[in-house]
Amino acid sequence: MKIVVIQGPNLNMLGHREKNIYGPMKLEDIHTQMKAFAEQNKLEIEFFQSNLEGEIVDRIQECLGDADGIIINPAAYTHTSIAIRDAIAAVQIPTLEVHLSNIYQREEFRHKSLIAPVCAGQIAGMGAFSYHLAMVGMSQIFSEVKMMKEHQAKMQASQAAQ
Ligand code: DQA
Repeated sequence: MKIVVIQGPNLNMLGHREKNIYGPMKLEDIHTQMKAFAEQNKLEIEFFQSNLEGEIVDRIQECLGDADGIIINPAAYTHTSIAIRDAIAAVQIPTLEVHLSNIYQREEFRHKSLIAPVCAGQIAGMGAFSYHLAMVGMSQIFSEVKMMKEHQAKMQASQAAQ
């Protein structure tokens, strides 16, 4: 099973950017931790960061037929991007939205996520640990999908035997 991690604008500045809000870790350190979790759990993982909305839309579209799950921190586009929301809705791949900060505790313009309604879930406010929780959450989604497929296969086999 393959997870694609998509990081939005300014997240390449982590470790330098507003450390009091986003913490001291660099993006590559967060990715190293996610990679370790993926290896332990026999998951494939790929990382992508862009400051450009259209590139993020392109990367989501490329997940079609390739990825089983998407973990996305759309960063500032969370609050503005109908295009990213539509791309997630279009590919119909289980998606988890991640934020380092608790967006509901901050400025009012950050309280609304245009992305959350098309995601399986949202994790916010746990700093870099939000990404770890997203990995755990995605593993759980994969287990549930597997169980559902096995159940469907059993039902079909028993119907065919009748
Ligand atoms: C963020 C929250 C957004 O409001 C902000 O624009 C970001 C980072 C977070 O991870 O807390 O760039 O997505």
